Amino acid sequence: MSQELRAVEWAGDGLWLIDQTALPGRLDRLRVETVDALVDAIQRLVVRGAPAIGAAGAYGVVLAALQAEREGWDRTALLAAVSRIREARPTAVNLAVCVDRVLPLLDRGREAALTEAHAVQREDERANRAMGAYGADWLVKRVAADRPLRLLTHCNTGALATAGWGTALGVVRELHARGLVEVVYADETRPLLQGSRLTAWELAHEGIPHYVQADGAAAGTILRGEVDAAIVGADRVAANGDTANKVGTVGVALACADAGIPFLVAAPTTTVDLATGSGADIHIELRDEREVLEWGGVRTAPAASRGHNPAFDVTPGRLVTALVTERGVLEVAAGQLPGERLA
Ligand code: MRU
Repeated sequence: MSQELRAVEWAGDGLWLIDQTALPGRLDRLRVETVDALVDAIQRLVVRGAPAIGAAGAYGVVLAALQAEREGWDRTALLAAVSRIREARPTAVNLAVCVDRVLPLLDRGREAALTEAHAVQREDERANRAMGAYGADWLVKRVAADRPLRLLTHCNTGALATAGWGTALGVVRELHARGLVEVVYADETRPLLQGSRLTAWELAHEGIPHYVQADGAAAGTILRGEVDAAIVGADRVAANGDTANKVGTVGVALACADAGIPFLVAAPTTTVDLATGSGADIHIELRDEREVLEWGGVRTAPAASRGHNPAFDVTPGRLVTALVTERGVLEVAAGQLPGERLA
């Protein structure tokens, strides 16, 4: 991609989001002017991916302050609006972390808050580049130094999901830049298709060879020996290494363990939640059952069926071969726990 994609951008005096619900058909940008519109955009996955919603939340504090000035809100109304942004989605810890980082700056004025939100954005992209290098170095050293790799990923963790570059997909991009990617298997990622719509779109733009496969194909592809390593992102990593990520991730991790290949998680430290002891304490977002009962707005399941639609699952830390952050690589399954190493 000649110019880095910006899923979240503050331009002029407003917040702009790439509308990820329209991709890959259209690359539309949406200007967000109110707290209601931002909460709606986060919940509909116009903006999605843990670091990207963190950045949107950071700018959301500034947006709320602007709306408060326009509409004459008092401090209580402003704080209530900011809480609505903070709680728009519950699983990715980045959203609350970034809102909580920017909110206190409002006491020094809106410009100070905006400067902090820009810093959140800049630091995330820098973290992604560092993760890319650490993850690529680890894979070259531990898997193969002499040939391009066959990788598998689940959901979308690229530029669209972050402030820029990507986490797990950032590692893939770094390996590709080194000429070390043979092929990427991109799980389609039911039910909202972040893999086939977004990851495949980013891989195609980067010229990275890839297959889109049904989520149900992943275990078989891995067990047939067609994958050297799987690499995914995270929405929240607990102190013991348990990792919440897009539903379907734990199946990939189990298959990797059985096949004896590495399962890597790439996530910035803003996604590591040391206050959460284990995955059992992570709130998993349950989404509208229509997302699994319908296809393109048309009912596909019998009228009597109910839908079960958890947006995420938790991979136990014992299945996470390595956690790649901007501070380096922790071999979680071998006992290098985030709670001890990142405290
Ligand atoms: O529901 P989504 O699309 O926001 O879920 C996103 C994921 O699960 C990603 O893997 C995760 O947020 C990491 S993004 C770098």
